[in-house]
Amino acid sequence: MSAPIIRTLPELRALTRQWHREGATIGVVPTMGALHQGHLSLARAARADCDRVIVTIFVNPKQFNNPDDLKNYPRTEHEDAKKLAPIGVDVIYVPDGEQMYPDGFATNVSVSGLTDVLCGAHRPGHFDGVATVVAKLFGQTAADRAYFGQKDWQQLQVVTRMARDLDIDIEVIGCLTIREEDGLAMSSRNLLLSDRARIHAPKLAEVMEDMAEALRAGGSMSALMPDAEKRLKAAGFTEIEYLDLRDAASLIQHDKLTGECRLFAAAWLAGIRLIDNIAV
Ligand code: PAF
Repeated sequence: MSAPIIRTLPELRALTRQWHREGATIGVVPTMGALHQGHLSLARAARADCDRVIVTIFVNPKQFNNPDDLKNYPRTEHEDAKKLAPIGVDVIYVPDGEQMYPDGFATNVSVSGLTDVLCGAHRPGHFDGVATVVAKLFGQTAADRAYFGQKDWQQLQVVTRMARDLDIDIEVIGCLTIREEDGLAMSSRNLLLSDRARIHAPKLAEVMEDMAEALRAGGSMSALMPDAEKRLKAAGFTEIEYLDLRDAASLIQHDKLTGECRLFAAAWLAGIRLIDNIAV
């Protein structure tokens, strides 16, 4: 049976207050819907850890810098509820724009430093939108734990920093990226790829894995980049926004493997922006 869908904050609050009175722990999985196996793995992790689980679905206009991207973002609430049913989440919270940003809404949550690079440098205002909505969702759900995918590694660092800086009493948990059999990181945006582009999309992860191996063997980004760019262009990628080696926590850029690093990439394929990151 599908979990009940709650659309208003007073209804959600009544439930979460009751749950806290009963001493239950609450886990939240914030999403924008169009759920795939990656999201479902977060819901399963929350289900395993917490007494009560809330999945939120809200396509947050504040984190889109392109109006077409916002308009085209897949909205599949009915299918999402069906996919969550076997996991047994307790509630699906689906607020509307008025619930989240009522008239006169004037607050912006902005995390500096971490957001100056990677996606932050290419999508102005994106992480302010993410930090603002996630701060609201943490407050609205009164959750004890929140589950995010490592696929959006920078987002995970930003929301962790935000919760820490604002003394929000929540544990932020990063869960492993779930991949298709051919290596493509699962993403709601994959639904927008044409059949032809979908065939070439895994090349991004493949090139990154090869680079990671070469970096572990002592290679440098400056030496590896020309070949990586050539392979991605040959697969049809039109623009590589970034392909960087960075410290996993501070996101400081390195040319060679130094401490705990990850490779981060964002690239455009047939009009769709794909991002990925892997441990090196
Ligand atoms: O990762 C996402 O889907 C979104 O950025 C999030 C965390 C739900 C905030 O809108």
